Amino acid sequence: MYNNNPTLDKVDDKKILHDRQGEVLTLEKLELNPDAKRFYIESYGCQMNFSDSEIVAAILAENNYFPTKNMEESDLILINTCSIREKAEDTVRKRLFIYNKVKKQRPGTLIGVLGCMAERLKQKFLEEEKLVDLVVGPDAYRDLPNLINSAEEGNRSINVLLSREETYADIAPLRLDNNGVTAFISIMRGCDNMCSFCVVPFTRGRERSRNAFSIVSEATDLLNRGYREVTLLGQNVDSYKWENPETKEVVNFANLLEMVARVHPDLRIRFSTSHPKDITDEVLYTIAKYENICNYIHLPVQSGNSRILKLMNRTYDRPWYMERVEAIRRIIPDCAISSDIITGFCSETEEDHQDTLSIVKFADYSMSFMFYYSERPGTLAARKYEDDIPLEVKKRRLTEVIELQNQLSLESNQRDVGQTFKVLIEGSSKKSDADFKGRNSQNKMLIFPKKDGLKAGDYTMVTVNRANSATLFGEITTS
Ligand code: 5AD
Ligand code: SF4
Repeated sequence: MYNNNPTLDKVDDKKILHDRQGEVLTLEKLELNPDAKRFYIESYGCQMNFSDSEIVAAILAENNYFPTKNMEESDLILINTCSIREKAEDTVRKRLFIYNKVKKQRPGTLIGVLGCMAERLKQKFLEEEKLVDLVVGPDAYRDLPNLINSAEEGNRSINVLLSREETYADIAPLRLDNNGVTAFISIMRGCDNMCSFCVVPFTRGRERSRNAFSIVSEATDLLNRGYREVTLLGQNVDSYKWENPETKEVVNFANLLEMVARVHPDLRIRFSTSHPKDITDEVLYTIAKYENICNYIHLPVQSGNSRILKLMNRTYDRPWYMERVEAIRRIIPDCAISSDIITGFCSETEEDHQDTLSIVKFADYSMSFMFYYSERPGTLAARKYEDDIPLEVKKRRLTEVIELQNQLSLESNQRDVGQTFKVLIEGSSKKSDADFKGRNSQNKMLIFPKKDGLKAGDYTMVTVNRANSATLFGEITTS
């Protein structure tokens, strides 16, 4: 059913958008349209949010709004928000004050809040804060054109209905801020896990998987437009499950990975996020089988202590997590593993914290995202447990985890010195136009001098000659 051998005719389509029917719109066409308006969008939080903003952009583009990077000239300012920690919400509030200053200069500009914070705070945004005209939850983006119309008429507009079906499968995202090489593909939405610290099940609703064929065709389309890497996104990709309504065949995550890997050997596949309780050997063997599925797994541990993991409702314990790491090492020997870690969760003792440090060492993560616990209203933990670890203790434990991780990242990168990796060139290095940047299969960033004839989207072999804890530096190896 899916195309294993798509043609690679490249078109200069940086400015081409595909609408729902597959027709082609161009930004120029939109710009020439006298009714066209401009929208400005900022995204915060996880990769899923950035991916959602591209769906929002596609919906708006079909409705005569085209993107601008200049807030001052926009008719609509949108912010796609994150509720995961209190700090993330504080950032959004600060941005809303800035948007309102712009609005004073340019009356008539509409301000809209999208995403998780819209879902969490609902009417509160309109009633108490009076900083916004539109409030739109993550499952209501199709309603944006109506909500905008209603806001233009002076109403405060809101749609925060969550859905059990919405996957936006038929909407071709409008790639914003893109490098033309790497792109996100959302494969599922929502989360059914109910980790006790997490607000996501409340803000993003129930888990649902997107039609597998629509995912493969999005990957094929990206390949044909010059992209060379896709990241399959979901809160818990290992529980991806889609039933073909015609054949009743069930596609699981391993099957989906295989389908996307077979689109073309030059299209790299990444995915995020994996859940330790759900990642199967079948998935690991599929990664090992295909060279173009990257040897990199983001496998958040959260804590290394079984009692804390139970309170977190992670549904695995320390031995289970360690066994999954061993399985990865056995089946995909050169696989990099990264993690998310929370310090200072309710009732965490110094011994429990030591267990987290020791599991970080055991797993030898190439990198981690590390946070101290931030209680979120409405979550299981907020209702059941006391947030009893003092802030200084949470922060001190966090510093200890960060220091350990930095040391492990440095050692891991130093082990790469002298090795040669296949690297996908993503573009010029931020610091120097004379250098390229790109990643290896393990998701490590490499910086190396440019060579004539090579460009973004090409693969090249790079030998590493030095490293710090964040980056590898090297030279292109002529084969
Ligand atoms: N406090 C701190 N960190 C959190 N995360 C999720 N919820 C919280 C919270 N309440 C972290 C987890 C998750 C990552 C996306 O954010 O580590 O994996
Ligand atoms: Fe993403 Fe979670 Fe933040 Fe929502 S709350 S934006 S799902 S990280």
